Amino acid sequence: MPSLNILRDLKERIRNAKHVVAITGAGISAESGIPTFRGKDGLWKQYRAEELATPWAFEKNPELVWKWYDWRRGIIAKATPNAGHVTLARMEDFYPEFTQITQNVDGLHRKAGSQKVIEIHGNLWRVRCVREGKTFYLEDVPLREISPRCSCGAILRPDVVWFGESLDPELIRKAHEELAACNLLLVIGTSGIVQPVASFPAIARQSGAYIVEINLETTPLTSLADLSLKGKSGDILPALFDFQSDS
Ligand code: OAD
Repeated sequence: MPSLNILRDLKERIRNAKHVVAITGAGISAESGIPTFRGKDGLWKQYRAEELATPWAFEKNPELVWKWYDWRRGIIAKATPNAGHVTLARMEDFYPEFTQITQNVDGLHRKAGSQKVIEIHGNLWRVRCVREGKTFYLEDVPLREISPRCSCGAILRPDVVWFGESLDPELIRKAHEELAACNLLLVIGTSGIVQPVASFPAIARQSGAYIVEINLETTPLTSLADLSLKGKSGDILPALFDFQSDS
């Protein structure tokens, strides 16, 4: 753990920052009871995300992929935002410029009250018609039919980004703009191995941002961070953003 002086400096830096960006991954929702993709709770029936979250898996076996999403939607429907999500929502009110770039599709940042959220991997409550491309929210839990259909008869898919697919260029553009402009970047609960988000901290670094990583373990992004805090985001974020008790 960093020394008390380093932590005091960090809190000062956090208090004085003007433009803050937070990148979040599955780890921020772990304390809400949502399994992460990697790590000991990250598996579902021996399948890995890389085997199910792909267009090829969906083409081959849409039922299996939908069953996985139905399982995840069931867990997420019962989940509530934890102290990490809530602290980030409070930060949004505090800073003149604040944006979250989340890889999570669970919608918990918005449920916590955050509005400036770039959901770069989509949202698992939204579906998309594979024929017409139209999107809409379908929030039945459990699904009334596995492999739901659009009114046009075509199959619907979760409106999320799968491995091998491109991210929305407009969301990427917005994310790059924020990363290049921020002076403090928080990297929270991500294993830092899935692109393009794994490269986002380097953009902020190039622009001179101070980077703080919060994670249970060391990741490929740790060496890029100015400071790496090991622990649960639901404990660390409220402790860092606790200005009232300082004054
Ligand atoms: P991962 O499951 O790869 O990594 C979760 C990270 O969170 C790990 O580094 C854990 O150490 C950390 N962690 C777990 N609990 C934590 C806690 N309470 N506090 C802080 N950190 C904690 O999740 P992502 O990096 O988000 O993509 O995965 C990236 C993408 O891979 C996902 O968006 C998804 C997946 O396949 C798609 O589905 C396209």
